[in-house]
Amino acid sequence: MKNINFFPDPIIHSTFKGVYPPSDDTYLIIDYFKKNVNENFFDGLPINNVKKILDMGTGTGIIALFLQGIKKYISKFTSKIYASDISDVAIRCATLNERKNNYKDNITFIKSDLFRKFPSTLQHSFDIIVFNPPYLASISYKENNLIRNGNDSNWDGGERGFEVLLEFITKVKDFLNSEQKYYIYYISSSSTDLSQLNDELEIRGFQNRILNKRHIFFEDIILNRLEEL
Ligand SMILES: C[S@@+](CC[C@H](N)C(=O)[O-])C[C@H]1O[C@@H](n2cnc3c(N)ncnc32)[C@H](O)[C@@H]1O
Repeated sequence: MKNINFFPDPIIHSTFKGVYPPSDDTYLIIDYFKKNVNENFFDGLPINNVKKILDMGTGTGIIALFLQGIKKYISKFTSKIYASDISDVAIRCATLNERKNNYKDNITFIKSDLFRKFPSTLQHSFDIIVFNPPYLASISYKENNLIRNGNDSNWDGGERGFEVLLEFITKVKDFLNSEQKYYIYYISSSSTDLSQLNDELEIRGFQNRILNKRHIFFEDIILNRLEEL
């Protein structure tokens, strides 16, 4: 069976100032897909059923480009790839990277704060959504010194670190294809209150499964998958 273990990472030619450069969390997602997508299944979902994928908060576009690249190798994988970001610069950067990887006009880019600018035609259509969100708390203190402050959309996830994610989750069902099984992949950090996050996800009707973790400096970054409860 064809698998994509050795599939090369897309080349990121452009990392504009202020756009999140591909990092450990990005590769936690890509490496998981490399191990769990093959010619028949996308992480257990029949590959023919995966018709639309959204990379929310695309940054340089790397995850969307990776998914687009799989299509060249696995002919049964014909999913249409969408990528969105709140940042104008990120959308420009990702569009340029799409061109430089020779995928011009294959990916649909949407500049939007979460789903606010999504056309209604995309409602109930995504089979998979990936979101590496800003996942750190807005402000934190260490020995009375402020070590982070600001509202940088790359990392600032809100007061508890998961407000942006929860806002996304509150709207996400409107955009998922509930006619069949769907998955949401997202990153979280052990520097936030994960049991509180888990409760919030359950209240919104989702079951969380941890897929992988990596320890980086002061935290574990965690790759999670959500399914309907
Ligand atoms: C941690 S970076 C991830 C970038 C890229 N997906 C990656 O994995 O390398 C978070 C991204 O989410 C975007 N973002 C933050 N808040 C957003 C929102 N409300 N709506 C859409 N995108 C958002 C940021 O601009 C940034 O590009």
